[in-house]
Amino acid sequence: MPDTKLHTLKTIVEKYKQDHILEHYDTLTTARKDKLLEQIQTIDFAGLHELYTHSGANEEVKALDVAPLSVPGWNELAADRGSLEKTGWELLREGRVAALLVAGGQGSRLGHSGPKGTFDIGLPSHKSLFQLQAERLLNLGRRAGTVIPWCIMTSPGNHADTVNFFAQHNYFGYDQDQLFFFNQAVIPALDQDGKMILETPWRICSVPNGTGGCIPALRSSGIMDKLKERGVEWFFYYNVDNALIKIADPQFIGFAHAAGQPIACKVVEKRDADEKIGVVCLQDGRPSVVEYSDFSEQLKQQRDCKTGQLVFGSGNISIHLFHLRFLEEASQQKLVHKAVQKEVQTDWGPVLAYKYEAFIFDLFEYASGMSLVRVDREEEFAPVKNSASPDSPGEARELVLNLHRKWFEKLGAPENLIKGREIEVSPLTSYDGEGLVTGMLDNQENPLLI
Ligand code: UD1
Repeated sequence: MPDTKLHTLKTIVEKYKQDHILEHYDTLTTARKDKLLEQIQTIDFAGLHELYTHSGANEEVKALDVAPLSVPGWNELAADRGSLEKTGWELLREGRVAALLVAGGQGSRLGHSGPKGTFDIGLPSHKSLFQLQAERLLNLGRRAGTVIPWCIMTSPGNHADTVNFFAQHNYFGYDQDQLFFFNQAVIPALDQDGKMILETPWRICSVPNGTGGCIPALRSSGIMDKLKERGVEWFFYYNVDNALIKIADPQFIGFAHAAGQPIACKVVEKRDADEKIGVVCLQDGRPSVVEYSDFSEQLKQQRDCKTGQLVFGSGNISIHLFHLRFLEEASQQKLVHKAVQKEVQTDWGPVLAYKYEAFIFDLFEYASGMSLVRVDREEEFAPVKNSASPDSPGEARELVLNLHRKWFEKLGAPENLIKGREIEVSPLTSYDGEGLVTGMLDNQENPLLI
């Protein structure tokens, strides 16, 4: 039987000139032989060949047709923020909103070996990113009188570690019936000649297929349909690595619902021209996100001659609300993969490879429109990307503690109770600065956990 399988797979592998992936086969143990064959069976050889020939590894980069897009802040929007927030709370209470976390990335820039969400940015409480997120959702759910469904996308390389981490921490008190883990797909990396790369004699190097893989995976896992049956209409999409993420923010939900577009996005003013975040702008006349790496230096640096502000200054912080109807349509679309050149590690040393990734925002073009709002980055964006500055864990830690201190400053807390102290407010105590009183600072401990 294995011989027949081997024979069939050999034929396919040879057809696509990838026979080197079987070159160690005869030296492997039976278990490893089986593993390798199983992996080969999952590969779409024809699709991969097409990717190599058409996705940028071999093609000229198309000139960008982009134009700036100015995004209004909350204060410039005509809407009544109180009533937007009320609508958001109603939608949460009625179970019409789910959180959708993309946590399948490899986190290689951070140099953390486990899933990024398990990372402790060094807050006084030493809570992991996952715990901060769980507690924010628990707080909102408690106040809305419900448990917000939480979908968590992993990838085969970090799925077991992620689920185990949640289990070890008793799911942070989250109701397991409302936790939905699902795996995204992976694609083999290719070398400069379009050949697959062996990581070990029995494993082909495969990498997660990018944030764009999220929607088809949510669909094929059955979770999209399950949540639709439960009445979910909106999915709050966010990155694992934002320590200030206001998950399922009621005001933003109300805003998206009132605007009536299938997608809503939050943006921030870029910190500087070189900040490595995507830019929300018009592309071919439609609102869209263009990744920093696709922008020319000249466009990145362009400033308005009157205000001095960056012309392309609306930064994407990967906070989107998607309507279910849009996700259903988008999940049927063919993903457009981009080739990114990165080094991969193998038993024989590093190899420069093409990794293929689809980006979530490349699906935006299938939406009839988008509503956008600019938010304060100090309140909503503390990215944990690199082991050292910029966007380091230490910087994210400071951003979280600064915000918590500001909440007390707004309450008029005396300076001697705030100055020089580290005050960390648990997301279970306060989601957005609500419910705090200056008396909480009477305890002289430093750091102070509230
Ligand atoms: C991403 C955005 C960028 C935005 C920035 C804000 C994309 C492609 N780019 O950049 O426009 O300005 O966030 O912080 O989204 N992930 C997966 N599977 C994958 C790849 C990534 O789940 O295959 C997850 C990561 O775990 C992470 C998020 O997606 O939670 C973003 O990761 P990454 O691909 O590193 O994007 P950034 O460069 O941070």
